[in-house]
Amino acid sequence: MAFEIRATGRAVPPRRVTNQDLADRVDTTDEWIKSHTGIGARHIADEGIACSDLAFQAAEAALSQLAETNGESAAMLAADLDLIILATTSADYIGVPSTACVLQDKLGARNAAAFDITACCTGLVYALEIAAGLLAMNVHRKRALVIGSELLSRITDWSDRGSCVLFGDGAAAIILEKTDAPREGAGRRGLIQSILHADGSGAQALFVQGGGTRDPFKAGEVLTKQPHLIMDGRIVYNFAVKALTSTIEELLQADGITIDAVRWIIPHQANARIVNAAQKRLGISDDKLYLNIEEYANTSAASIGIALDELNRAHRIAQGDLVMLVGFGAGLTYGGSLIVW
Ligand code: ACO
Repeated sequence: MAFEIRATGRAVPPRRVTNQDLADRVDTTDEWIKSHTGIGARHIADEGIACSDLAFQAAEAALSQLAETNGESAAMLAADLDLIILATTSADYIGVPSTACVLQDKLGARNAAAFDITACCTGLVYALEIAAGLLAMNVHRKRALVIGSELLSRITDWSDRGSCVLFGDGAAAIILEKTDAPREGAGRRGLIQSILHADGSGAQALFVQGGGTRDPFKAGEVLTKQPHLIMDGRIVYNFAVKALTSTIEELLQADGITIDAVRWIIPHQANARIVNAAQKRLGISDDKLYLNIEEYANTSAASIGIALDELNRAHRIAQGDLVMLVGFGAGLTYGGSLIVW
């Protein structure tokens, strides 16, 4: 039994906000942002757009891609989905109902169980493993839609130059299918290794202030700021370099391979400097690392999926290629997957 990626999709809002646009609003410069993060722009959703709207667009793109190869209609494929797992930190509602259920209705995926998960920037990696586990447990389940969708612009403090330059909006979708291919040995396919970690002692390094049960809104209270991300950049930076490095090493060790065997490493796109620091420590060549942070900034649970979809649609992943996904983020959470394409 194998768990193979059958299709991918992405959705990025058309409104592009450059570093210079931000510099017109807060005390920053294009030079500072580029040199400290590698970010050149981010895409921001218009008012009225919610997490499920971007998720829907990404899901439609993935379903259409699968429909092209399968010769079925996207609507039929949606109706046949067994599971929808949506990773987000910026849901349509505070907890109730899940954004996955809103998406299920929009897609007409009436046979799919649907729920959200919160593992922040590691969300897509966590969701893939959960999906594979749930497909494995039941013979009647065959196909899962795994989504990372974020409107970080809605939980960004746009007056804080230390964090607002980092984030963007976007969504990505992956269709994961249970097949008869082997998961081990010669001819192995799909998701072959997965590592998930968490370190809750770092919860305060990156969190959303306001609105949760820790700090609920009170009737009559005047909000001076919307709920927004508070971040200790230094702590997150140091954690992220370690998490990225150790996850790559752990995945290689788990599979008994060296970095030479891996065609693509797709890290969470948080900061090019984080990726470059890990790259230097491990001696990874540039041609193995895929980075698109310059265009989209950090889209949290969506970032790895957006990158994967770009590579997939550009036909830059060949059958049999080993692809490594590595996530790290608030929680703190980190982990990775190794996939035979
Ligand atoms: N423009 C201009 N100056 C700035 C800006 C800005 N946007 N932001 C901070 N500065 C200033 C600071 O005020 C400080 O000035 P000072 O020396 O006069 O006090 C100076 O730049 C240096 O600030 P530092 O915070 O030390 O800058 P650093 O080099 O650490 O870079 C950064 C900050 C980019 C946030 C870095 O710490 C980082 O990338 N951390 C990781 C954060 C991250 O990736 N979070 C993503 C979410 S979680 C995840 O996805 C893992």
